[in-house]
Amino acid sequence: MSVAIPVITIDGPSGAGKGTAAAAVALQLNFHLLDSGAVYRVAALHALRNNADLNDEASVLATFSTMRASFEPKGPDGVAALLGEEDVSLQIRTEQTGNAASKVAVMPGVRAAVLDEQRAFRRSPGLVADGRDMGTVVFPDAQLKVFLTASPQERAIRRAKQLKDKGIKASIADLAREIGERDTRDASRTHSPLVPADDAISIESSALSIDEVVERIVQEWSTRAKSES
Ligand code: DC
Repeated sequence: MSVAIPVITIDGPSGAGKGTAAAAVALQLNFHLLDSGAVYRVAALHALRNNADLNDEASVLATFSTMRASFEPKGPDGVAALLGEEDVSLQIRTEQTGNAASKVAVMPGVRAAVLDEQRAFRRSPGLVADGRDMGTVVFPDAQLKVFLTASPQERAIRRAKQLKDKGIKASIADLAREIGERDTRDASRTHSPLVPADDAISIESSALSIDEVVERIVQEWSTRAKSES
């Protein structure tokens, strides 16, 4: 019987620290990394560039026939997103692409179209995957599932700090309200809503440093690996 390649999933709302934690866990365990949000962002960027109507699923899906998206490891701490030969790693991080990604991510046809692409990241010796539905839909057989949260207030503080580092001022109250609204939208959508998998462990990170979050996940992984050997 073949042994499944190990997967650790880290799901949760935006701003909970999933991306940073996933990259650090992958680095420690020498596992591959899937930032599934980047997959939606690349698809959205391609749709935008091809003038798709982002409120019309058929219009977005029509652009996929010419999409050649790929992801290549870039140094120890990241993965480059490519559209054809072009490195679009920076372009996919803009607010415009983020908003477009959240629109296309609600479309069931889009979610189905990127499913295989995400599963192809599962390669030996293992994978850490972060997103919203990694443990529920994409890798339901993952050996460790983490649901990472933080209070809206704490996530707003973290987001304000990120923006300040970029020279952008933002009100924490406004950010907390926007984050609350986005949580409700993500959790209430029909397809792949943001919910913890039944067998996920929850980590509330409001009072934890990123190092503490990473340590908990790696410890949990080592405990499980030992009990299986
Ligand atoms: O994590 P992020 O901000 O890069 O994600 C971009 C958008 O993609 C976000 O609006 C939520 C959506 N997304 C999703 O629906 N499912 C995932 N597994 C990952 C991201």
